[in-house]
Amino acid sequence: MMSYQQTKYWSVDNIVDNLIESKEIQEAAAFLREGKLVAFPTETVYGLGASARSDEAVTSIFTAKGRPADNPLIVHISQQKDVYNFTKSVPEKAEKLMEKFWPGALTIILAHNGRLSTKVTAGLSTVGLRMPDHPVALALIEASGEPIAAPSANRSGRPSPTTAAHTAEDLQGRIAGIVDGGATGLGVESTVIDCSGELPIILRPGGVTQSQLEAVIGRVEVDQSLTEEAAPRSPGMKYKHYAPEAPLTLVDGDEDFFRSCVRKHKENGEKVGLILFPALASMEADAVYILSDNRIETTARELYSALRTFKKSEVDHILMQAVPADELGFAVMNRLVKAAGGRILTQ
Ligand code: TXA
Ligand code: MG
Repeated sequence: MMSYQQTKYWSVDNIVDNLIESKEIQEAAAFLREGKLVAFPTETVYGLGASARSDEAVTSIFTAKGRPADNPLIVHISQQKDVYNFTKSVPEKAEKLMEKFWPGALTIILAHNGRLSTKVTAGLSTVGLRMPDHPVALALIEASGEPIAAPSANRSGRPSPTTAAHTAEDLQGRIAGIVDGGATGLGVESTVIDCSGELPIILRPGGVTQSQLEAVIGRVEVDQSLTEEAAPRSPGMKYKHYAPEAPLTLVDGDEDFFRSCVRKHKENGEKVGLILFPALASMEADAVYILSDNRIETTARELYSALRTFKKSEVDHILMQAVPADELGFAVMNRLVKAAGGRILTQ
């Protein structure tokens, strides 16, 4: 069931002093307490929030996104101490990670104590917890007085939203409200690390890198499915993800190889869209998105926006050069390979 509803907009200024007392945050927080869905900015991507204690509210997240019910949601909190309200025990390594990286782009998986809706955790014995590093997100969570379940605020399968406009593109009329706090800074989602077992395991690469984690807690494993084809442990990783409107192909090679791949697609009579690094900015195509610079932070920040630029009516195929899959590039390539459905041309 998804009837049309009016979506309310609040535009907030991130830097005002008592954001939490503002009319906008108070109204949005009241919606959350009433079990309604409110999208909001975090430092990674926009999230689609609902009270993580309400079965009904959480179920409506899955409906609005068209998300499979077996894919658990991250629970967002505004204070580190809230972790103890929802977990059975917190290992020392998890505590160290929270101290170092919260608020920030790190989701920590721990055994839960049953106080959250079972819909949030998709029936698993663990829950993913995160304290986002964004003044609007923190003010909203705090004002609501609730733990907030929030997946990325896109329709399932689409690139994650990094602006309120992207969020509206996917969810307008399907959710109660959107808090607009401007474009998000990081652009890729949080790193998901499972701390419920002996050895911490990265289930999803993201804003906090493996070497940053290892500098704090020593050895960290990377889930097999991230480096090879294997059964995914993070339930979300098995579904189609981040897909643009037209098929995307990654090109792993130098500039000449990229040019030759583009030429082949054009010769096939395809309308081609290109995501380009500045060095190739002069290349011609039916549509282009030129990244602002070569830094991996910039690619991460602009990636989802770039993927959303290309419309089915304008291009048949999108091409982009691959980036080195280390540090933040590991997260960027993880998203790109999924967005491309695994299509990579290698030199
Ligand atoms: O940056 C982010 O993490 C954003 C913002 C809004 O906070 N949220 C986000 O949520 O990316 P979502 O639902 O799009 O991705 C959550 C990922 C999924 O791959 C899900 O399967 C995994 O985290 N996850 C959540 N709870 C889990 C659990 N208990 N065990 C294993 N994986 C879990
Ligand atoms: Mg998502």
